[in-house]
Amino acid sequence: MQDAQWLREMLSQELEVRPPRSLKAEQKYLSSNIITLRVDGSLIGYTDIRDYGKAAEITTFIIDPKFRGKGNAKKLVLKAIEITPHKIILSCTRNPKMAAVLEGCGFEITHWPGLKEYILLTINTIKRVFSMIIRLEFKRLWVQAKGFTKYKIYKLQIE
Ligand SMILES: CC(C)(COP(=O)(O)OP(=O)(O)OC[C@H]1O[C@@H](n2cnc3c(N)ncnc32)[C@H](O)[C@@H]1OP(=O)(O)O)[C@@H](O)C(=O)NCCC(=O)NCCS
Repeated sequence: MQDAQWLREMLSQELEVRPPRSLKAEQKYLSSNIITLRVDGSLIGYTDIRDYGKAAEITTFIIDPKFRGKGNAKKLVLKAIEITPHKIILSCTRNPKMAAVLEGCGFEITHWPGLKEYILLTINTIKRVFSMIIRLEFKRLWVQAKGFTKYKIYKLQIE
């Protein structure tokens, strides 16, 4: 339950990521397709991995504020690359730090991730908008919508 509490706290604070679900739902989610980073057994980093078939997307990427600026985001991206069996990994961001981390791990900006991937990324964006509306998270919706055009798709092709 401690992990789910941490995750809910992080998701509540960070308006650039998906909204938090109930404690029970986050607890269940923590046993699915996610990658974590721990220090002395405690969660300090979290990311969801979405399976798009040939490609995977790294999304909802968070490092605990107490552990930022120490290379932990890079560690988590490298762990995701190592664990994920996909040969193509995508990530969408407009956060300059996240962009620096992705570029440092070999990702490059792409304008066309592929038709299936583009459709799935769009569907997931629409789903996220609905999940924010349903939860009355209008501040979060505004923060994400106002800089929508600044989002870039990063792609890593593993040989
Ligand atoms: C984005 C985030 C994951 C970065 O975590 P972090 O642990 O501080 O990242 P790291 O220390 O591994 O690396 C930060 C990188 O950004 C660079 N950086 C720092 N400030 C920067 C800035 N203003 N502009 C560009 N790059 C910057 C650092 O030099 C470093 O790059 P380097 O490894 O090549 O030196 C963290 O700030 C976070 O969780 N933010 C809130 C959630 C969020 O916005 N997630 C991204 C959603 S897409």
